[in-house]
Amino acid sequence: MDRILVRPSGPLSGDVKINGAKNSALKLMAACTLAQGTYLLKEVPDITDVQSMAELLRSMGLTVRNLETNQIEIVNPGDITPEAPYEQVEKMRASIVVLGPLVSTYGKARVALPGGDDFGPRPIDMHLKGLEALGVRFSSEHGYIEAEAERLTGSRVVLDFPSVGATENIMMAAVRARGETIIENAAREPEIADLAAFLNRMGAKVLGAGSSTVTIQGVDNLVAVEHTVIPDRIEVATYLSAVGIAGGEINLLGARADHMDMLCQKLGEMGMRISSDSTGLWAMASKGLQSVDLATLPYPGLATDYKPFLVAMLSVADVVGIVTENLFSGRFRYVDELIRMGAEIRTEGHHAVIRGVPKLSGAPVRAHDIRAGAALVTAALKAEGETEIRDPHHIDRGYEDLVGKLKSLGADIDRVN
Ligand code: UD1
Repeated sequence: MDRILVRPSGPLSGDVKINGAKNSALKLMAACTLAQGTYLLKEVPDITDVQSMAELLRSMGLTVRNLETNQIEIVNPGDITPEAPYEQVEKMRASIVVLGPLVSTYGKARVALPGGDDFGPRPIDMHLKGLEALGVRFSSEHGYIEAEAERLTGSRVVLDFPSVGATENIMMAAVRARGETIIENAAREPEIADLAAFLNRMGAKVLGAGSSTVTIQGVDNLVAVEHTVIPDRIEVATYLSAVGIAGGEINLLGARADHMDMLCQKLGEMGMRISSDSTGLWAMASKGLQSVDLATLPYPGLATDYKPFLVAMLSVADVVGIVTENLFSGRFRYVDELIRMGAEIRTEGHHAVIRGVPKLSGAPVRAHDIRAGAALVTAALKAEGETEIRDPHHIDRGYEDLVGKLKSLGADIDRVN
């Protein structure tokens, strides 16, 4: 079993190239089921979630090939099997986004009910309700959702909550529907705007993506295209957290500050200096971190995916910070691991109260999911002795060479078998 070993590090210095966003690349790959032809995706991160999505597409009859670094070619032969088997979907919850494009293109789809990250129940009722409004009929048996429809018809869909996955699923279905679809209370994440840009390049007519109202005029013809994935703002947050905890000065090449205003503001309040230029983001942490209170919210609020990094930073910050989770229940499991490292954290329902300590203490800990695992790595940069992070395969789902990149910044870190 692989493990990541981290010893006290810092100050960090140097440049890191930011990869394309996992949460965008996966959806763009799903959108390749919409039309026959050869697609070229650039800046696709080399991570296991992308491999899982590639496997899923292959199981349907598409061809997925790695070209040069971070480029993949996807060939859709036109006649694919609109089915996502359990073996694929259980590896990655995001697979559910193939439902919309498959049923709108093929009039039917069979998709296993998703598994995925281990943080509380993650229902898909909004995905189904939205697609039903466009005319899809659902039944479910033996752990599969069966979807059927004649040609979908545009409709007005009001989401109960700005769900990222539901917005994407409905958007990808609506591009082929007859007439106009309006999604109200749509999620506004940058990855949704990226998906809309990709769909529009294919010939779709999507307006307003990135705002709460997305309008989609259905079209008859879509074509395969080339597209470059936007940078991963959560990967950026990971390295910002590393430099915040270990101190130093780093450049995050390709990072988009305009995708993470709220995070940059909060890190500024914590005492970091961050600025952006045409090459990306520059960040410096020269003195200890100050505590702040934080609450996760849908974009443009503070992303729930940033939270483990912020909790790790608050664990070594001055005084007390309160973090409130507003999106997912049960997303504090990694806190027990931080406590094993000497952090002083009390959780109560959706809240965590973090009293900063000057230093953590290296211990064996477990990565429970992608971001929680990476946050343990950044916390370990300020832990006396050695921290051993087990189950790094969770981290591999979302990070291309986290260990190598941190090492290049001067961190004392290794991956061992
Ligand atoms: C996506 C991201 C994930 C991020 C999350 C919120 C991907 C692959 N994952 O997940 O990293 O943390 O957005 O920014 O892009 N909900 C329902 N019913 C539904 C759908 C969602 O109740 O039908 C609830 C969820 O349980 C959760 C909230 O809505 O409490 C937000 O979920 P959603 O925005 O859908 O997250 P994902 O798309 O799954």
